[in-house]
Amino acid sequence: MDPIPLPAPVWLFKALHLLLLSLHFVAVHLLIGGLAVAFVWNLVGFLKRDAVYRAASNEIAGYLPVVVTYVINLGVPPLLFTQVLYGPALYTSSILIGAYWISVIFLVIAMYAVLYVMAQRAAGGRAWWGWALLSLLIALSVAKIYVTNMTLMIRPEVWLELYRAHPGGTALPPHDPTALPRWVFMMLGGLTITGAALMVVGRRRIFSAERQRFFVTHGGRLTLLFAPLWGGAGWWVWQNQPGAVAQRILAGAIFSKVGLAWLAVAALLALLGLLAQGRKGPLPVALTVVVGLLAIVADALAVIFRDGLRDTTLALKGFNLWNQPVEVNLQVLLIFGALLVVGLALTVWLIAVMARAKPVTEITK
Ligand code: HEM
Repeated sequence: MDPIPLPAPVWLFKALHLLLLSLHFVAVHLLIGGLAVAFVWNLVGFLKRDAVYRAASNEIAGYLPVVVTYVINLGVPPLLFTQVLYGPALYTSSILIGAYWISVIFLVIAMYAVLYVMAQRAAGGRAWWGWALLSLLIALSVAKIYVTNMTLMIRPEVWLELYRAHPGGTALPPHDPTALPRWVFMMLGGLTITGAALMVVGRRRIFSAERQRFFVTHGGRLTLLFAPLWGGAGWWVWQNQPGAVAQRILAGAIFSKVGLAWLAVAALLALLGLLAQGRKGPLPVALTVVVGLLAIVADALAVIFRDGLRDTTLALKGFNLWNQPVEVNLQVLLIFGALLVVGLALTVWLIAVMARAKPVTEITK
């Protein structure tokens, strides 16, 4: 337990952490799914000389650099909250895999640069699927490093041995049955959420009717296919939890219900995908809003459930998050609150600007 008291109550940090991490997950899912879809569409567009696929992939390439700004800016605050709430656990695991952990900075910079190359080639009408694949592989590696660290932080029993064997930060933790399912869960979530996003994007009036239909039907198919797989991956994560953790979650009042609610939302998304995949035009406004909201809710529920798994695991190993010393620092808290409101307002404004922006193909016409 960290002897330095927290400057605000645990519940406040927790609430902010869950809110911002949910948004980070949405952005990560859009990035991973967007890259995968853009790669396939661009490849198909050039292999089959299909102008529709090429143009649609170029639109996605135009969105992706902006998505990364959200991945990063919505990742930093929850990282700070995780450090505050779980300091002794997260700092230890980050140091143990230090070489990989620090490499995230350089990997994200490289991935970002590649995205700009892609967007530039898209604007020039050239093929870029190879660059998309490179960027996707980098993103998948970053995700793997995150999963490795977030899994290692809840395994204090392996820390000492790991440090003794590799004190230089080049260690990789011993096998953990939950690590692969967690990573697969995040990747399949990417394709599900991106499918939902395409259904939403297909409503934009700046696109021709043909392009709208393309986005809506392909988004629908993607969600219809991947939401059930995402559900399966969630079940896989759950099945691999240690018995004591699963028992405590099932005995508790909240997290088992959150897990079931997440499954229900994933099923609803699949249903909406079924509805969208055969459409001749965009979804009605109300349904488009529902799809967008359900995608965000699905990620928020996944984040809450994941948090329950972590807190339960750590509590069973003697780290009870809620027992930390707290000494409220009102001044700091007020400044933080004000900056958060300004930051969120700016984010909403940026999204609004982005929504009004013209697509790449129209700019280069
Ligand atoms: C390509 C870029 C990125 C990808 C693909 C990515 C992916 C992921 C994934 C897969 C997880 C979940 C790990 C798990 O559940 O085991 C995660 C969690 C997280 N990521 Fe990202 N991430 C990226 C960039 C960032 C950046 C730049 C930051 C912040 C500086 C960040 C902050 C976080 C935080 C704080 C968590 C969760 C911490 C917690 O468990 O409380 N991520 N990320």
